Amino acid sequence: MKIPFFNLKRQYGLLQAELEQAVLASMRACTFIEGDDVKALETELAAYLKVKHAITCGNGTDALKIALKALGVHAGDEVITTPFTFFASAEAIAAVGGVPVFVDIDPVTLNLDPARLEAAITTRTRGIMPVHIFGVPADMASINTIARQYKLFVLEDACQAIGADVCGKKAGTLGDAGCFSFYPTKNLAAFGDGGMICTDRDDIATVCRALKAHGSGRNGAHAARLLGHTTDGEELNALGLGDGLYDPCKYYNYLIGDNSRLDSIQAAVLRVKLRHLEKLTQKRGAIAARYTQALADTPLCLPPLHLPDTSQCWHQYCVLAPDKDALTADLNAAGIGTGAFYPVPLHLQKAFQYLGYRKDDLPVAEAACARSVCLPVFPELKPEEQDEIVSIIRRHYGLADLTA
Ligand SMILES: Cc1ncc(COP(=O)(O)O)c(C=O)c1O
Repeated sequence: MKIPFFNLKRQYGLLQAELEQAVLASMRACTFIEGDDVKALETELAAYLKVKHAITCGNGTDALKIALKALGVHAGDEVITTPFTFFASAEAIAAVGGVPVFVDIDPVTLNLDPARLEAAITTRTRGIMPVHIFGVPADMASINTIARQYKLFVLEDACQAIGADVCGKKAGTLGDAGCFSFYPTKNLAAFGDGGMICTDRDDIATVCRALKAHGSGRNGAHAARLLGHTTDGEELNALGLGDGLYDPCKYYNYLIGDNSRLDSIQAAVLRVKLRHLEKLTQKRGAIAARYTQALADTPLCLPPLHLPDTSQCWHQYCVLAPDKDALTADLNAAGIGTGAFYPVPLHLQKAFQYLGYRKDDLPVAEAACARSVCLPVFPELKPEEQDEIVSIIRRHYGLADLTA
């Protein structure tokens, strides 16, 4: 039986009628950029996350870069983050001129270990970027306490964590700002790239909105004032509002920003999928619970099923295997797709060589990279497919087949 690591066509098939109607309507509206679907999506996402501002943008990497700039990261500022994440988390810090400082992870949640945070704080530290890896929320209570004590910002990389929550508050809304990715394999996925920043802070929202669109117009002038650039933007007063299609203020720029906008067709897709997100997250949770039950007596270190006051969104089901390569080879030979997230911890990536980290500097993250195997957990995985995956793993470890 061939079982892919994820299968985007299945979800498309299930939601086809709704998706195609929404995309067609969006095309017919011809407001391709920042159109009605984008505005509606932002309202719906803000309501879903119970947050004041949801600001869509081109992708999750841009979301991180824009938010870091809005939070005031300048050249040489240090931002503490985890080495056990996708490259973009730390790449964004470096891309805005900051210096990523890696702190080792907790062996259970695989997230930034707050017990090691204080030792990494220096006079140049500006903020902390926890990543809710695989959809498991980081220990935000401890991270926020330390951040408050040292007057640091907290930017959550929630790119893998839409739908996860802590004490009833959604991941991505627990710090000063949170960033999301709508990459096609994410739990809430576009038909291309997409991203979002969310925040309860009006000042950060204003600056993010300006930075994602060339720092232009009234919002650009307002953002520039917030950032301490002296501008009154008075020249805009005489320009009027335009006709809705042509905004005369758009061509007056106050900040060096970017072009990072979500297009309306992607927003239309995301609006449909958002309506199904909770149900699909529950399906992921049910698949995860089945794995945990069926693999409990194997030598695998399984992901935590229940963490206090926390619900995770199961972006990945990641097991730590003592024999990662052999297990992966057996699964792949049987036609089962697996994910190796992540083969190299970020402090040992060649691109970050200049930071001067060495092997064994962050042993928990290094051990996780050496052992992690992600199993298929997409919501449309069929029970008989999951049985097959479980059987192969049990056979690999010489255990009795549960379905026999
Ligand atoms: C943890 C994490 N951060 C950042 C990103 C970047 O998001 P995007 O691919 O939308 O730029 C991703 C996406 O893969 C991610 O998983």
